[in-house]
Amino acid sequence: MFSHCGLTPQQFLDGYWQRKPLLIRQAFADFQPELDRDDIAGLACEELAESRLITGSYPEHDWQLRYGPFSEADFAEMPECNWTLLVQDVEKHYPPLSGLMSRFDFIPRWRIDDLMASVAGPGGSVGPHVDQYDVFLIQAEGSRTWAIAHSYEDELLPDCELNVMRSFTPEQQWTLQPGDALYLPPGVAHHGVALNSGMTWSVGMRAPSAADLFQAFGEWSAEQPGDGGRYRDRGLKVSRCAGRVGPDAIARFEQFFQSTGAGSPGFSSFLGSFLSSYRLAHKPAPPDVLFDPSSLGEVLKNGGSLKHNPWTRLLWLQHDDGASLFAAGTEFPCPAALAETVCDPGLLSRLKAGTSASDLELLCELLNRGHLYVEQL
Ligand code: SIN
Ligand code: CO
Repeated sequence: MFSHCGLTPQQFLDGYWQRKPLLIRQAFADFQPELDRDDIAGLACEELAESRLITGSYPEHDWQLRYGPFSEADFAEMPECNWTLLVQDVEKHYPPLSGLMSRFDFIPRWRIDDLMASVAGPGGSVGPHVDQYDVFLIQAEGSRTWAIAHSYEDELLPDCELNVMRSFTPEQQWTLQPGDALYLPPGVAHHGVALNSGMTWSVGMRAPSAADLFQAFGEWSAEQPGDGGRYRDRGLKVSRCAGRVGPDAIARFEQFFQSTGAGSPGFSSFLGSFLSSYRLAHKPAPPDVLFDPSSLGEVLKNGGSLKHNPWTRLLWLQHDDGASLFAAGTEFPCPAALAETVCDPGLLSRLKAGTSASDLELLCELLNRGHLYVEQL
């Protein structure tokens, strides 16, 4: 991806990731998008897809936002110019895009949120704005000018559903052609304007906020025995100032926070379950016919292969007592080798008959909960 910039993925991570923008000309040389603008418009008509239609331009600030699903009639009524159709989670709706997503495997997969497609008419823009996540903006069709600024006024346009900045002064700008990509770290203001009918694909990496993490940790603690532990103050000294939370109490709370939070024995379970369910839009559904180890063994013997449900986030981690696999928030303790195989689409699809009985058991459980599915040859 970075070869035209003369960078290795590690040099990109060292010099740019979370630090500064990088224009990557021909990041995807001879890029042939697997989906065209009509496919994305079709997806925006589906109930399950999260889509938005934005019209307007900067600096006029005549923004309008509508949420999908849309109908063909909506698209027939569209103006010629200044419109953008956004569809989220496109790689989940269209699993063959996993090939493109795997180009980002130099970043842990759990860090990647989704691929959003943005189809635009000439002049199409969502306004100048700042995102709180890393993004790779890949030009799929047509051309688009991206302007960016590191320093800017924080003021947003009032009474506007879109997070649009009231004013924006570009510091740098580039026009991207198909196959070009622009990496932006969080906090850099940007404004993309389509020069002609085209499409941009953004691969977004949204990191959890402290609020997300603590809220989820609070809910998780509430499910633990004794609500995850309770503040104790054995050895309390007689208070001369009963209204005050003294330094001894503050120190005990700091210690309590540490021992029941990141220092608690269940923290890795919490983390795996939190990260594997972060921002999941749909719960996987079980298959029509449930598997058992012998039926699954037959399937593998007959050349069937196992695939990830694209709506399930799968990850694994090693802890003091072994390894755990996490699928959409549920923990499955298992050997590290099996966890690694399940999480790696290539290794998983090459699983053959002869898989051990205990491994088949876990695979059946994942299939029966809808986290995996069988593809027959
Ligand atoms: C777009 O591609 O239209 C919007 C993407 C973004 O600015 O984050
Ligand atoms: Co943005």
